[in-house]
Amino acid sequence: MRHAMTVSLCVLVTAFAAAATAKAADRAIALTVDAGKPGATIDRQLFGQFAEQLGHGIYGGIWVGRDSPIPNTRGIRNDVVAALKAIKVPNVRWPGGCYADSYHWRDGVGATRTTRVNTAWGNVVDSNAFGTDEYMDFIQQIGADAYVSLNIGSGTVAEAQDWMEYMTADQPTTLAKMRAANGHSAPYRVAMMGIGNESWDCGGLMTADEYTAELRRYARFVGSYNAKQPSLKIAVGPGTDDTTWTEAVMKTWKERHGWSFDIQGLSLHSYTVYDGWPPHMPSTGFDETAYAHVIKETLKMGPLIDKQSAVMDKYDPDKKIALVVDEWGAWLAPTPGSNPAFLMQQNSQRDAILAALNINIFARRAERVRMANIAQMINVLQAMILTDGPKMVLTPTYDVFKMYVPFQDASFIPVTYDAGSYAHGDTTLPRLDAIAAKGKDGKIWLSLTNLDPNQPLEVDVAALGFKATSADGQTLSAPKVDSINTFDHPNTVAPKSISGTLKNGAIILTLPPASVTVVSLKP
Ligand code: AHR
Repeated sequence: MRHAMTVSLCVLVTAFAAAATAKAADRAIALTVDAGKPGATIDRQLFGQFAEQLGHGIYGGIWVGRDSPIPNTRGIRNDVVAALKAIKVPNVRWPGGCYADSYHWRDGVGATRTTRVNTAWGNVVDSNAFGTDEYMDFIQQIGADAYVSLNIGSGTVAEAQDWMEYMTADQPTTLAKMRAANGHSAPYRVAMMGIGNESWDCGGLMTADEYTAELRRYARFVGSYNAKQPSLKIAVGPGTDDTTWTEAVMKTWKERHGWSFDIQGLSLHSYTVYDGWPPHMPSTGFDETAYAHVIKETLKMGPLIDKQSAVMDKYDPDKKIALVVDEWGAWLAPTPGSNPAFLMQQNSQRDAILAALNINIFARRAERVRMANIAQMINVLQAMILTDGPKMVLTPTYDVFKMYVPFQDASFIPVTYDAGSYAHGDTTLPRLDAIAAKGKDGKIWLSLTNLDPNQPLEVDVAALGFKATSADGQTLSAPKVDSINTFDHPNTVAPKSISGTLKNGAIILTLPPASVTVVSLKP
């Protein structure tokens, strides 16, 4: 009886799959990859992370302390380190965010730490057990670069100088000796240094002119103390599509002269917040309408970057200054029952789609957008990882970052296709979003996102300048767009193998509904 039922179920499933494939083929999209025209490098720094002293982003998420029963190396969770190594995190921005402009680095070094109230996030006590040396240990354990945000709100130029000297000095100065006394004789490398954070809001509500006055001083007087390892300097940039701030910073940069200052990056912060502030879209248990609205909202990132880039182009046609999208991601309603100041939210298949779309937006603009940091890495906003005591779960967004590893430092390759459309209610979205690149491994990589949550999508891939006979990779789909991974069910959303074969000169791939697929083309 049980056998008979299994057989008929199999017949049904096969029939359904065949019908779905036929339907997908019905409205197949033809896509051409022009492998002969490699373009800009998709900088690996586009896959950067952000970890603020906020909620359980650091405490519990990274730092458990040396005496914790949770397996750790010098207080840093081993499970989290292993997971982050697998996605090759290029850099981690720290300590904020809004927190950065009230962070005093001396509170977090040495044997005795100064406890403070975290006035930016929930007025909870910050033990400062995780400070500069722990941050550096953490990024070294995961193999990432340091990206520190300087406190220009409640700090001073002198304090910022001292912090940079403590971290980077390679000569026996007093602060280098202090670092050595704290167990770190070798200088740290600070790859990137942010000059403030959202200075137009939580960073001090400055006007653009007030900020550029601060920028001139901080960018001139604060930097690496190791000539062999300079730090890239990143100015605060805009947080909306208003270009006043960008104009002011770029004009100030353009008009500098002599031995004044320089910057190498301008930041942009843009979260996906649908239907106004405060963020109230649930992170799970939502319907197709909410899916479509949030995805539509996230696609505004492209035009936003284009508008700000146009101003940068005016002052910097050679694209010397990178646009650094160092806060992006979905900002949704807090998880019910959690402290709203801790910005905890679940992470669904919708977040995976949203992540892929944004990475694609950045990659298409790789000449100018050379760095980005999703907010935030662990337990906060659109996280890679959720933890609860000893438990850890990887999110669908984590899976996307892992699948995209071959795109790190790959050369962008143009793709052409007619995206078609998926419509729900009053919302219309493209059915397909795709990018391609030639990886450092020499392979041609393709990322294909099927935005339609109801229909599979057949993509017929033709390669120019490259003989392709098959494609292999992984696809990330889920039972529903609001499917999530939980501590009890960690693999509800997980990548599965996918392959495509040659038919009539094209490689045929059938993408599941609402899925992200990454494949390499095989000769
Ligand atoms: O990521 C949360 C907060 O969002 C950051 O602290 C701030 O920079 C932004 O407004």
